[in-house]
Amino acid sequence: MYDLVIIGGGPGGYNCAIRAGQLGLKTAIIEKRGKLGGTCLNVGCIPSKALLHASEYYEAASKTFPSMGVRVTGLSLDLPQMLKQKDDSVDGLTKGVEFLMKKNKVDYIKGAGRIVSAGSVEVTAIDGAKQTLEAKNIVIATGSVPTDLAGIAVDEEQVVTSTGALSLPEVPGRMVVVGAGVIGLELGSVWRRLGAEVTVVEFFDRITPGMDSEISTAFQRVLKKQGMKFELGHKVAGVEKTGGGLLVSIEPAKGGGARVLEADVVLVAIGRKPFTTNLGLENVGVRFDQRGFIETSHFKTNVEGIYAIGDCTHGPMLAHKAEEEGIAVAQALAGKWSHVNYDVIPNVIYTDPEVASVGKSEEELKAAGVEYKIGKFSFMANSRARTNHETEGLVKVLEDAASKRVVGVHMVGSGVGEMIGEICVAMEFGASAEDIARTCHAHPTMSEAIREAAKGVDGWTMQA
Ligand code: FAD
Ligand code: NAI
Repeated sequence: MYDLVIIGGGPGGYNCAIRAGQLGLKTAIIEKRGKLGGTCLNVGCIPSKALLHASEYYEAASKTFPSMGVRVTGLSLDLPQMLKQKDDSVDGLTKGVEFLMKKNKVDYIKGAGRIVSAGSVEVTAIDGAKQTLEAKNIVIATGSVPTDLAGIAVDEEQVVTSTGALSLPEVPGRMVVVGAGVIGLELGSVWRRLGAEVTVVEFFDRITPGMDSEISTAFQRVLKKQGMKFELGHKVAGVEKTGGGLLVSIEPAKGGGARVLEADVVLVAIGRKPFTTNLGLENVGVRFDQRGFIETSHFKTNVEGIYAIGDCTHGPMLAHKAEEEGIAVAQALAGKWSHVNYDVIPNVIYTDPEVASVGKSEEELKAAGVEYKIGKFSFMANSRARTNHETEGLVKVLEDAASKRVVGVHMVGSGVGEMIGEICVAMEFGASAEDIARTCHAHPTMSEAIREAAKGVDGWTMQA
């Protein structure tokens, strides 16, 4: 009898397993993919960042190096090697997760899990062999899959989801991306840098609709300057295969005549949906909402002893959110303090420049009727940014005027994905903008822009 059986080996599941193992719970993790790490490690965060990193260097070698006195002659793309180094990173990391299961005495069972009843999970191995695990507690961590675009068939070769877009065997001449969200802009950037002409079609009249709109506007301006094209306020009505290419029919979202874009590859990136197929949830009566997310209260489903974490339940679909929830459930089952602070979950888009935010946007504060103060600082005035030729972007700090706590920070700029960690710590400690402004930051660093923006909240920005 296990204390805990986890179904799904992504960042939610494997982090839950590690923490449970550390806390002495007898734990098993079931994964049907054949490799641990879930979407994130196999077809998500890690391979996309491997391509973003490599393609950024490739573009920099031709566009940025010369202005810094570095001449590269005979620069060329070795796409098979770029894809291989991505696959090598994935392989190494999935093996690392497997090692962590052993280290923490977690049983890793390869196969598909199905809940037979509360406390009982049947596992079907790839060869069809079945076994049943008895468990005091079950954690569902089955993640998510791409949302389909009605009437458009994905073949993962010409019409691809993020999974196909991570392994295109050659650079498409023209790529149409459906959805100006995180996947579309990250993977669109990869293929644009490698030579594709990329057009992004977005239903709303702005990119990254949930983001602070000032940041989103600044972000779009940079992407446009880099050569990415946008068809905002449009939806894709159909994709037709011709001899070699694709005809993508787009229509204004508000109605009107259709136009046709020619493409070699279409990337459909209109969001992801929870994955709970063939899990046996109907056997036990676990409740879903209308969009298929498992309903939970403090990670508990409506069925005693069954929990749900990560992308298959509510909240941002992010690896670190899944990880937080996995840790919290393990802690709860071991009788320890267990909490996730959903107000401090950072969001990063790993383009160049990066976009990073945490907390509330200005629009959200306005809608909630919260009085707030703002401080801003442009990287144009930051000495390190100027030295590095990385002056695009800004930092925006939002402070609740009544409590004097920082409630949101939004940034576009080189390396801001690393810098957001400072803000998360500050917000966890209930910092005011003044706390950040009075903290000594190393010079010359990009992070000084955060300090200057924080000073701006109380009107004493010094370096602009
Ligand atoms: P998943 O990682 O989806 O793992 C669930 C696992 O459960 C899967 O491996 C699946 O095979 C398995 N499973 C399902 N059903 C069963 C069953 N019945 N039996 C056994 N196993 C089962 N997030 C970030 O935070 N940062 C990023 O940079 C980032 N980049 C991304 C890039 C892309 C292209 C994509 C697609 C996603 C990205 N994400 C990123 C999102 C991130 O991948 C997810 O939020 C995260 O993986 C969710 O973790 P999870 O554990 O809930 O589910
Ligand atoms: P998304 O929700 O970020 O963006 C989807 C976009 O598609 C939205 O802007 C939406 O308005 C638009 N859209 C929806 N239907 C449309 C239609 N019919 N026509 C045109 N546009 C349409 O979803 P995305 O990019 O697919 O990513 C899924 C999730 O994966 C993200 O929300 C995020 O949680 C996670 N992710 C995180 C990353 C990171 O943290 N860096 C990287 C990649 C993915």
